[in-house]
Amino acid sequence: MGYAPQARIDHAALRHNLKCARKAAQGRKIWAVIKADGYGHGMLRVARTLNEADGFAVARLDEAMRLREAGITHPILVMGGCYTQADLHTASDAGLELALHDAQQLRLLQEMESSKQPMTIWLKVDTGMCRLGFHHDAIHSTAASLKKCPAVAQLNLMTHLANADDLNDPATQVQCELFERIEHTGFSRCSIANSAGLLGWPASLSDWVRPGIMLYGVSPFSDTHASDQGLVPVMTLHSRVIAVRHCRNGEKVGYGGTYTCPEAMTVAVIAIGYGDGYPRHAPTGTPVLVGGQRLPLIGRVSMDMICVDARILPTVQVGDDVVLWGEGLPVEEIAERAGTIAYELLCGVKQRVAFVDQNEDGEG
Ligand SMILES: Cc1ncc(COP(=O)(O)O)c(C=O)c1O
Repeated sequence: MGYAPQARIDHAALRHNLKCARKAAQGRKIWAVIKADGYGHGMLRVARTLNEADGFAVARLDEAMRLREAGITHPILVMGGCYTQADLHTASDAGLELALHDAQQLRLLQEMESSKQPMTIWLKVDTGMCRLGFHHDAIHSTAASLKKCPAVAQLNLMTHLANADDLNDPATQVQCELFERIEHTGFSRCSIANSAGLLGWPASLSDWVRPGIMLYGVSPFSDTHASDQGLVPVMTLHSRVIAVRHCRNGEKVGYGGTYTCPEAMTVAVIAIGYGDGYPRHAPTGTPVLVGGQRLPLIGRVSMDMICVDARILPTVQVGDDVVLWGEGLPVEEIAERAGTIAYELLCGVKQRVAFVDQNEDGEG
């Protein structure tokens, strides 16, 4: 409607990226990670399109329940686990699989009513990230307690990699080796790899892999773009030119007047701002695509607008389509310019942006 921004979601790209994950996984099962509203793409639309995933992984119980309520019958892993008896009951009734990362969660599970359906539990070991998970020294005793626990139907082991996106960091290999030593002590299934592990660290390919960002067509590595990995961007953020200005030499553009026109120049104003999720810290020079041409942002990002230097595109007109990131303009590049990561930009697209589905049906 009007000249408001649109996030176009390419479902064929989602299916393609899952195929890439499938190929890299070499027969391992895939938890498609769709937490945080499918990394900002819409959790349910992503789940429906990725129905060939072996299961879905989310961070929180309410995300898992939204999937169940929408009729998703796949295995679902709640990677943060549960924190109350009521939540454990909900998870058990919904047939969810739970990560278990600390002693309080262990006690809750041990105290769970025996009438409840036993669950698959993924014991989380901290192999070096110091975030969630039991210390590796405590894994044997914790596993022994869990094996005696009537609420546990199957006991699995998982960990998370802290820096797999840096292929030169030996810490990932150390994490994998530590995990492998623990894994040998009797777990039904194991899981280590995120996207970077799956694409870059063969030692992290365990029974199940947990790719997230690559499914959305973003490279998990800091120094490469999606196309280097054969991935296709799923979200392309579009908007339109809403004004064309002919500024004079020396005029200052936008809040704070941080950009001074070096000569008489054409400036295009585009309907996108931090109120839509475009990063406020994107500096002068950050590219946008207008008619396939890269034009540099100038001045500060406002809530609803940005200004770009249109000197190389004198034909620019109100209504011209603009790409802020996605097809033809990697979100990784915009994130780097803005001093953040693609994950944050994708998750940050606001509700007032219209989401438009493309290529929902069909193969590839
Ligand atoms: C425990 C866990 N596993 C897997 C993933 C997926 O990671 P990525 O999006 O880097 O593939 C995440 C994401 O943060 C996570 O927290």
